[in-house]
Amino acid sequence: MSPEPAARPAQLLLSVADLHVAYGKAEVVHGISMDVRAGEFVVVLGRNGAGKTTLLNAISCLIPKRSGSVHFAGRDLSHATARQAVQAGIVQVLEGHRVFHTLSVEDNLLIGTYAHHPRGDRSKLERIYTMFPEMAERRHQMASRLSGGQQQILAVAQGVIGDPRLLILDEPSGGLAPIVIDRILDVASQLCRQGLAILLVEQLVDKALRHAHYGYLVETGRIAGADTALALRQGDLLHRVYLGGRAPAPEKETAP
Ligand SMILES: Nc1ncnc2c1ncn2[C@@H]1O[C@H](COP(=O)(O)OP(=O)(O)OP(=O)(O)O)[C@@H](O)[C@H]1O
Ligand SMILES: [Mg+2]
Repeated sequence: MSPEPAARPAQLLLSVADLHVAYGKAEVVHGISMDVRAGEFVVVLGRNGAGKTTLLNAISCLIPKRSGSVHFAGRDLSHATARQAVQAGIVQVLEGHRVFHTLSVEDNLLIGTYAHHPRGDRSKLERIYTMFPEMAERRHQMASRLSGGQQQILAVAQGVIGDPRLLILDEPSGGLAPIVIDRILDVASQLCRQGLAILLVEQLVDKALRHAHYGYLVETGRIAGADTALALRQGDLLHRVYLGGRAPAPEKETAP
């Protein structure tokens, strides 16, 4: 669980200013400003279609920005390519457990090291197998033979092995069993304590806030509120903005 500090760490890692993102003529992110501090666990919450994935994809330079700026660890990534963002230390685990089904677990992991080592860096594997023993046991299995939950853990491990400074996770729970998201949030918190910053989008609001330090609420492409995770859990902003005034939906059990 997070220490839920009263004050945010001082050192800025990611700084997003007045970001606008559009698909063709349709703008869906309308001037978002936000930041993530070094070693901070930040969650982005919002209803379906609010623009959360679009925001994350623009930060990690997977899609172009219409205007605004993204600065990361002293670099201006406003016009950077996805590869430059990865090389700067931003790694995003995409929505849905996307791994290469026809490759082994180990080969999937090695792909996560390609940005820094074109032939794959095997020296990184042992640390990952220690952190994810369920992947060590299955290292020679085809990814297609893993369950959905195991594939999601592999996708996260593939992100972690690239030694990011900011790990972005887009809805890791995505229809999987609660035990999977618990495992991923525990690993994320552990990494955070070691100095990694986490930017998480998650529909399991309560679980996410229990692990995060700070949270932003996104509503139709704008920041509708931001506060410490503790204040968001205790206040009514979340109900008003995210849940439209209704009581929060129970975090239902889903099949693996
Ligand atoms: N490739 C695209 N082309 C056109 N419109 C898109 C595209 N991707 C998303 N949109 C639209 O942009 C808006 C924001 O979508 P986005 O996927 O960023 O929302 P989200 O908050 O991640 O939603 P969810 O919680 O369902 O994942 C939605 O209206 C969506 O229909
Ligand atoms: Mg999304």
